[in-house]
Amino acid sequence: MNAIETKNLTHRYRNGTKGEEAAVEEVSLTVAAGELLCVIGHTGSGKSTLVQHLNGLLKPTAGAVFVDGKDIWESKQAVREARFWVGLCFQYPEYQLFEETVEKDVAFGPKNMGLPAAEIQRRVTQSLGYVGLDDSYRPKSPFDLSGGEKRRAAIAGVMAMEPHVLVLDEPTAGLDPRGKAQILRMILRYRAETGRAVLLISHNMEETARLADRVLVLHHGRAAMLGTVREVFARGEELREMGLSIPSVTKVFLRLQALGLPVRGEVFTQEEAIEELRRVQAARLL
Ligand SMILES: Nc1ncnc2c1ncn2[C@@H]1O[C@H](COP(=O)(O)OP(=O)(O)OP(=O)(O)O)[C@@H](O)[C@H]1O
Ligand SMILES: [Mg+2]
Repeated sequence: MNAIETKNLTHRYRNGTKGEEAAVEEVSLTVAAGELLCVIGHTGSGKSTLVQHLNGLLKPTAGAVFVDGKDIWESKQAVREARFWVGLCFQYPEYQLFEETVEKDVAFGPKNMGLPAAEIQRRVTQSLGYVGLDDSYRPKSPFDLSGGEKRRAAIAGVMAMEPHVLVLDEPTAGLDPRGKAQILRMILRYRAETGRAVLLISHNMEETARLADRVLVLHHGRAAMLGTVREVFARGEELREMGLSIPSVTKVFLRLQALGLPVRGEVFTQEEAIEELRRVQAARLL
């Protein structure tokens, strides 16, 4: 089953303006249920514009978005359903925290869905668990939290709506390394425990290599590449031409290979690097 699908999705801001380049152009994409898809691309490549179509915040200029096999713009009911099907967490979601307590903030979405009080409580507890904020955070004002904690509270609010697809637009942007690592662990845990699809926009190639099942590369609004981590990062030269890069650890291994050492070049994460060095050492090749 597919979690979500786009067909030839095109978006022009200020449609009709002469010569305006489309922010998203002819993107056809299928996200499978339970899949973790990373979207990468240079600034302005259309990542945020693309994901804002998935829950009907933006309407396509051409093409369509399908949720559960249904075009979301087919009826008012279908758009409404898409809002619940896809949970969208914006860039810097902490600016949208507004309630007096963390608990109320996380409960806001489920409350809006008209769920019974006990179910809201269950979801708040579960979501705070996913993001690693214990009970002591519930009565706190969101404004008294650290940057990373605020970010996690805001993400918990989207998780509490139990969307089929969780979309996170650059969830680690602007955080320190510790805050970043916490968010990554949280995403992996959420995915493992819920089995639901996650769509993650990232600027960070290391992050992408570690998390993604598949990677979508946007370039000037178009889907320039779509494939596994291995398939995409094997095209380092093309990525470089698009202003992107490959993980630093991959660069190191390609360099070692070029120097004549018997290592594989297809090493994308630190874990894989350690494994590869062990393999080479065990074979006494170094
Ligand atoms: N509200 C808007 N009105 C007009 N043009 C916009 C609007 N939002 C984005 N754009 C333009 O659409 C294009 C795609 O922008 P978008 O924000 O989707 O890119 P992005 O890949 O998310 O970039 P970033 O990495 O900086 O977040 C850019 O040329 C941008 O200037
Ligand atoms: Mg963006």
